[in-house]
Amino acid sequence: MEHQTIKLRNFLMLMIGFVLFAWGSSSCYYDKEEELYPNPPNCDTTNITYSETIAPVLQNNCNMCHGSASPSAGIITDNYTDLKNIIDAGSFRGAINHLSGYSPMPKDENKLPECDLTKINYWLNNGAPNN
Ligand code: HEC
Repeated sequence: MEHQTIKLRNFLMLMIGFVLFAWGSSSCYYDKEEELYPNPPNCDTTNITYSETIAPVLQNNCNMCHGSASPSAGIITDNYTDLKNIIDAGSFRGAINHLSGYSPMPKDENKLPECDLTKINYWLNNGAPNN
């Protein structure tokens, strides 16, 4: 009798442990950034840098209106220092992701191509390094 009670208790402990483990690992799983922002297929997010990845996208889509010489709305996207100002203000992320409360950019166009946007958001989430 005594022996059986111990076995039952061990079994219950094991079950509780298992349930806690399953619950714990599944909540981690859903917190992962890749799950919240899945990459589009064939979009390579390795080796992203400001100079090689981000600056060329801005050159092609933004600098014609937001160049240093005569910037629309005083917003400048053609160098890191000025770009960092609108990143820190939150308007860069808001504008390119068409979040409510921000003017959607590029102006009067669709969002940037999905992979370009993914790369920019990835870079932003990593602290927008000047690399
Ligand atoms: C055709 C010109 C044009 C292009 C291209 C353009 N913008 Fe703009 N942008 C504007 C104008 C004009 C404004 C002022 C707000 C408005 O009129 O919508 C503005 C505003 C902004 C703002 C401020 C938004 C806010 O709500 O505070 C940001 C940030 C911005 N642009 C970033 C960008 C980025 C990044 C790109 C490229 C992906 C881009 N813009 C492309 C003309 C442009």
